[in-house]
Amino acid sequence: MRLREISLEDFRSYTHTNLTLTAGVTAFVGANGAGKTNILEAVHLLSRGESMRANGDADMLRWGASVAHIQALVARAEAERRVEVVLIGSSPGRRRGRRWLLDGAGKRADDVVGEAVVVAFFPEEVQLLGEAPGARRRYLDAMVNQVDRRHRAETREYQRVLEHRNALLRTLREEGGPAAETARSGELAFWNEALCRLAGSIAERRARTVDELREAFQEASRRFTKDLPLDIAYAAQTDAGSAAERAAEYERLVVEKGEREVWQATTLIGPHREDLAVRAEGRELGSFASRGEHRSAVLALKLAEAAWIRHRSGELPVFLLDDVLSELDPRRRDALVEALPNDAQVLVTAAFAAGIPPRLLRDAAVREVMPGRVA
Ligand SMILES: Nc1ncnc2c1ncn2[C@@H]1O[C@H](COP(=O)(O)OP(=O)(O)OP(=O)(O)O)[C@@H](O)[C@H]1O
Ligand SMILES: [Mg+2]
Repeated sequence: MRLREISLEDFRSYTHTNLTLTAGVTAFVGANGAGKTNILEAVHLLSRGESMRANGDADMLRWGASVAHIQALVARAEAERRVEVVLIGSSPGRRRGRRWLLDGAGKRADDVVGEAVVVAFFPEEVQLLGEAPGARRRYLDAMVNQVDRRHRAETREYQRVLEHRNALLRTLREEGGPAAETARSGELAFWNEALCRLAGSIAERRARTVDELREAFQEASRRFTKDLPLDIAYAAQTDAGSAAERAAEYERLVVEKGEREVWQATTLIGPHREDLAVRAEGRELGSFASRGEHRSAVLALKLAEAAWIRHRSGELPVFLLDDVLSELDPRRRDALVEALPNDAQVLVTAAFAAGIPPRLLRDAAVREVMPGRVA
């Protein structure tokens, strides 16, 4: 899969910019603040439905503009499609939000996100494997979403179930006692069933993904950290296999933890409490790794992700490398360049061309980025 063209209108520092991209490597080179990351952010938003750094869509509208527009021509094996997203800020008479379009026709986000497939390396993510588990769960779900649209729908539904169930648990705690639980047993049974069913299928997909990723991750991590053999696992509350088996296990845990859940008025069972665990010889990465080791582990994870996407969807993702190369030592930088598939489209940014390894630069189209435009 590759991007043939991207166009930005009133997105961040760009009023109107149209870029034709080559199949291989494009290097965006320019001073700090010139607008390099903005381009990668736009591509990421269009592909994955979210920005890696904006707090909200308003951040991404060019200052003073009320609508931003990103378009791309996405060439896949079977066809070429035009993918568009319009970000609408608050303005009189217009509803805020996003509009998604595919070949000019309005669509739901779920039907457009994933048309373009990217794997991104952003400096913001260096701590992904050291942060709180929430970031890793989001990362893992976003990854599964790239190849399975049901996952997106189910995680959203699961979120809704959690909110209802937590509200019910709060009511039970306030009303107190077995009488309340009897009076509301039908309601509780309803939410328990929904919770465990969705939990089973979400956790099964996540666990299967991590399993499929594992070998590629180990291999990639050896490229970066020869003396630190890293391993990855889905740290789940149950070690059951299929979605149905997992659902049954969650049901058992719901009974076991029922009293505590009411007491704490929160749902303790389910994939919102599970984690993507990276370990070296049994130790959690977060407990000992240096910043550089963290970065290596994240790079390995992303390379494994790209291989996994290709394996599952048959499409090679576009690689977005924002400033990553300049932060790596020469050996790791070479390791990363070597690990990139030869036929991949790569969009890389750097403050100066010398920051890009010769092997990557040799065949690259170098685009000079200046505030508001790309030469
Ligand atoms: N909503 C916005 N409207 C207009 N300009 C914006 C907006 N958001 C950010 N900018 C501008 O975009 C520029 C930052 O762009 P970007 O992050 O792409 O820089 P960069 O080239 O990646 O720089 P660095 O080398 O420091 O990473 C800044 O000058 C910032 O002021
Ligand atoms: Mg940048």
